[in-house]
Amino acid sequence: MPEESKPPTRALKWEGGLHLLDQTRLPGSTEWLHIQSVEQLISAIQRLSVRGAPAIGCAAAYGMVLATQDCSNGEEWKTQLLGQGKALREARPTAVNLVVGVDLMVNHGLTLLDKETFDPNAFQTSMLEKAKSFHKADEESCAAIGRHGATLLKEGACILTHYNAGPLATGGDGTALSIALEAHRQGNPIRVLADETRPLLQGARITCWEMDQAGIPVTLQCDGAAPSALASGLVDAVIVGADRIAANGDVVNKIGTLGLALCAHEYNVPFIVAAPTSTIDLQSPTGDSIPIEERAAEEVRGWLGVETTVQGVTTRNPAFDCSPAKWVTALVTEKGIIHAPSTERIAAQLS
Ligand code: MRU
Repeated sequence: MPEESKPPTRALKWEGGLHLLDQTRLPGSTEWLHIQSVEQLISAIQRLSVRGAPAIGCAAAYGMVLATQDCSNGEEWKTQLLGQGKALREARPTAVNLVVGVDLMVNHGLTLLDKETFDPNAFQTSMLEKAKSFHKADEESCAAIGRHGATLLKEGACILTHYNAGPLATGGDGTALSIALEAHRQGNPIRVLADETRPLLQGARITCWEMDQAGIPVTLQCDGAAPSALASGLVDAVIVGADRIAANGDVVNKIGTLGLALCAHEYNVPFIVAAPTSTIDLQSPTGDSIPIEERAAEEVRGWLGVETTVQGVTTRNPAFDCSPAKWVTALVTEKGIIHAPSTERIAAQLS
């Protein structure tokens, strides 16, 4: 068994208030942001200080506790819940966990407000308890995903991953990388090949940092090197997370995932998607109906404020793409493994 490594650093915590690890500063510095309002949280979500579908969902649930902290009467509570909830829901368009976290809290708050004897202190306590239990459930889902997914890996497997679906993308140990962490804990000498993931390099900055912290051997490669790694047999499994999964199993994830899915299919390498069931959106029958966020041109035109192209060049900067279910070998959720996911198989697991 490998030496016991320290527990992974978390993306967020509630300690008398909401604190987020500022992921834009990694790996150079680990700074915590104290978030005191929904407005501050929306800004942190939009600039990617907190990112990753499940982590955004957990942060949003705590955000709804902040939304009602200064209210003095029931009517104000209701207005704040609905108004702030709507603003938070719209902070980013693609990850469904954001909507799940906000709606859970708004509905909980409205139920409390409907009670005949409304007690403001009990209201705030109950809202916080609800957010904490949502966070805890995500932590448990990550652990279960790790346990299920680790069974898919052979001894010493080389896992190719894109972007970051590790502890800092969730409320727990991550999704795709929870599988790597669990396999490593079980003594499987797995290795990780990490795509750097342009434009903001979260693979290089965050995935490599997390793997290094855990003592898992990690090799960094440019995004463009992934197809040749698959073609030359270096990779035993591609494992990625998801921002939203349609009812039929189409997977929306970080831009660049689609190319990996296609290559993995071509070269017969398993393409595994790891995500909690809260990422499955039954309201989206296929990936076509999932909105894809388009981000600022500056992210593509330069790095750290330095322009790396001709001034004013036109850009495309879609943050996500959609991989069709037909190329997904297995979907690993907290409930188990769905091989060759389809509408029927997903519905069966969710029932
Ligand atoms: O833009 P981001 O950082 O929020 O995008 C996140 C991803 O694409 C992750 O791969 C996905 O949310 C899964 S994280 C467990």
